[in-house]
Amino acid sequence: MRSTKVVVSKKDVENYSGDLLVCLILADEDNFIQGVDFIQPMLEIFNKKEEFTGKKGEFVLLYPPFNNKAVKLKCKRLLLVGLGKTHDMDSDQLRELLRGSGGLIAQQCKKSHAEDVCVDLHKINGIKQPFAAEYLTEGILLGDYDFSKYKKDTDDKKAYPGLKKLLFSSPTQLSPIRRSVKRAVNCADSTSVARDMANEPGNGWTPTHFARYAKQIAKANKLKCKVINKAEMIRLGLGGVVAVNQGSSEPPKFIILEYKPEKKADTILLVGKGLTFDSGGISLKPPAGMMDMKYDMCGGAAVISSMETIAKERPETGVVAIIPSTDNLSGSNALKPGDVITHYGGITSEIENTDAEGRLILADALTYGIEKYRPTCVIDLATLTGAVIIALGHHYTGILGNNDHLIKRLTEAGSACGEPLWRLPLGEEYTKQIKSEVADIKNTGGKAAGTITAAAYLQKFVGDVPWAHLDIAGTAWDFTEKTYIPKGPSGTGTRTLIEFVRRWKNGQMKG
Ligand code: BES
Ligand code: MN
Ligand code: ZN
Repeated sequence: MRSTKVVVSKKDVENYSGDLLVCLILADEDNFIQGVDFIQPMLEIFNKKEEFTGKKGEFVLLYPPFNNKAVKLKCKRLLLVGLGKTHDMDSDQLRELLRGSGGLIAQQCKKSHAEDVCVDLHKINGIKQPFAAEYLTEGILLGDYDFSKYKKDTDDKKAYPGLKKLLFSSPTQLSPIRRSVKRAVNCADSTSVARDMANEPGNGWTPTHFARYAKQIAKANKLKCKVINKAEMIRLGLGGVVAVNQGSSEPPKFIILEYKPEKKADTILLVGKGLTFDSGGISLKPPAGMMDMKYDMCGGAAVISSMETIAKERPETGVVAIIPSTDNLSGSNALKPGDVITHYGGITSEIENTDAEGRLILADALTYGIEKYRPTCVIDLATLTGAVIIALGHHYTGILGNNDHLIKRLTEAGSACGEPLWRLPLGEEYTKQIKSEVADIKNTGGKAAGTITAAAYLQKFVGDVPWAHLDIAGTAWDFTEKTYIPKGPSGTGTRTLIEFVRRWKNGQMKG
């Protein structure tokens, strides 16, 4: 992961002598661009020629001599970025505009090999400086993300090692900007951690790696961590995780991280699918695209990475994270279609398809977590069904659950993060599809409404506890094209969870 130093100061931008100075240009009512005084003459020329009019997404990269007597700059390059008209945007749209502009800045830094960047916050009328700095930082850091661990030191890698320093120059009070920037850095760092885990191949990121990482962040950030190993899983009756792991020689891990605030408070339980490679098991997947199933741990990555920020920020809400982790292979002892398994808590399940394995490991985690931690609400994240891609494409995460308030809160948090959620229904009609002739339930519900029947399976294990399930199979990678989301895993869910916890008010579930 990159480690970019982010600094906020009153430094005069005309004296900035680093690689790239960025000026944000708003287009006001009459589409007359507004910028910092020293570039105003330049802007007027651009505007006349209609080469750059300050529209959203527009940019120009300039090299010295800047060819204008009024402009005395020491920077090596100047980037003008259009923000367009912002006055009628709501705050979620504004956040996304700033993140997107940040992503664009990162792309231009990469292109021009700029490692030292200064963003001028002087003339962004109408946008609060801490707000602007927060979401620009998020966009810039997320856009600068790169995973080249497995590449030799190619020329490419040497030529641009990433952003080293990001400076915000602001005329206003600095401490609120510094606080916002810190929040953004936490969000971006956690998201990058989630992307790193996902980018690791199945042999580079196993359940053991997950467990090791959990212990490491627990130690660094004062969290409680417990890892349940295979023998103990068998003893406890975590039958879903054990069953999915049967075909593998890689040991499974059941990972628990706990953050407890000082005062008595609500507890939010987070559960993430940590399936480090999904071959389908005996119900083997077709070879084309099977490689992508190294990403089947993105729910677990979102949960564990958000825990790192939660632990750093120490909110007044308790948060417990559980990541059931294994891979799904087809060794000689593998689970077979027709087998019946017993979940933690005693519910039996007939296995119709060993590729519907995510719900098997989540079911144990949900029951276990609810029994042990008595949470106020439960949220699970999983790359659970291909069907959610058919329903919503790669643009919305599917959300299902038994509690309107919880779903509303998550949807709001997601929208604020540029990670939109769309609710799908649940109900008896769908639950009927997973009725089994031989066990309490079966693990598939036929072709129709695959995302809903998967959630209906999970619903059996949450009882009356307020619960929401996020199916991120469409958004965890190949997510909607955005400047701050490079190709590959998006890290979706991490920022939504952090935002959800930041906004949580103790007792809100009752009222
Ligand atoms: N991990 C997959 C879901 C998935 C599929 C994610 C494609 C991303 C892209 C999950 O374990 C799975 O295989 N689900 C099956 C369920 C089916 C057998 C009922 C599916 O969606 O095909
Ligand atoms: Mn599967
Ligand atoms: Zn899977």
